[in-house]
Amino acid sequence: MAGCAAITLIIQLPVFAPQKNYSEADPVYDIAKVYEVPMDVQMELYNSCYDCHSNYTKEYPWYYHIQPISWWMARHVNQAKAKLNFSEFASYSPEEAAKKFNDIQDVMEEKAMPIKPYLLMHDEARLTDDEYKGLAEWATHLHDKIMAKQDSMQKK
Ligand code: HEC
Repeated sequence: MAGCAAITLIIQLPVFAPQKNYSEADPVYDIAKVYEVPMDVQMELYNSCYDCHSNYTKEYPWYYHIQPISWWMARHVNQAKAKLNFSEFASYSPEEAAKKFNDIQDVMEEKAMPIKPYLLMHDEARLTDDEYKGLAEWATHLHDKIMAKQDSMQKK
């Protein structure tokens, strides 16, 4: 028991704390630089997705400072960013971007994002049915637009 408590205390030391997700990355690659992101969509992405799918996690809650919760959260953010990063979206090739828009459409139709544990702690990130629908339509629209452009380029 005492050993367990000691370990719990030791892992709270700053050396064990994962780095926070604040990057100095150039904002030139933000999705809005290249693709149309209407204001309402921007707000929804910002409120519900950016904590995990961007280079800027807004504010870290107090429990983020408790290991191993922090390790678990940092891993989620890293996995999420590897799949989709709105701060680097503009650097994706058109093919990649089209695939990502397709994935966004899928997860919005299934209402699979944001992930459940996050919603339990972040009521403000919940999306209404209309918002899910709107985001899915936005992603479909941009996906189709990229594909149409690719097609017309191939015909030339
Ligand atoms: C709390 C963190 C978190 C939030 C907030 C979040 N996601 Fe995710 N998302 C993840 C994680 C983790 C994965 C990787 C899941 C995996 O690898 O199975 C992921 C994966 C994805 C994927 C890829 C799915 C696939 O099939 O590969 C898409 C698309 C996505 N998220 C969209 C969104 C959108 C859109 C929002 C906002 C409405 C959002 N996510 C909010 C954590 C999050």
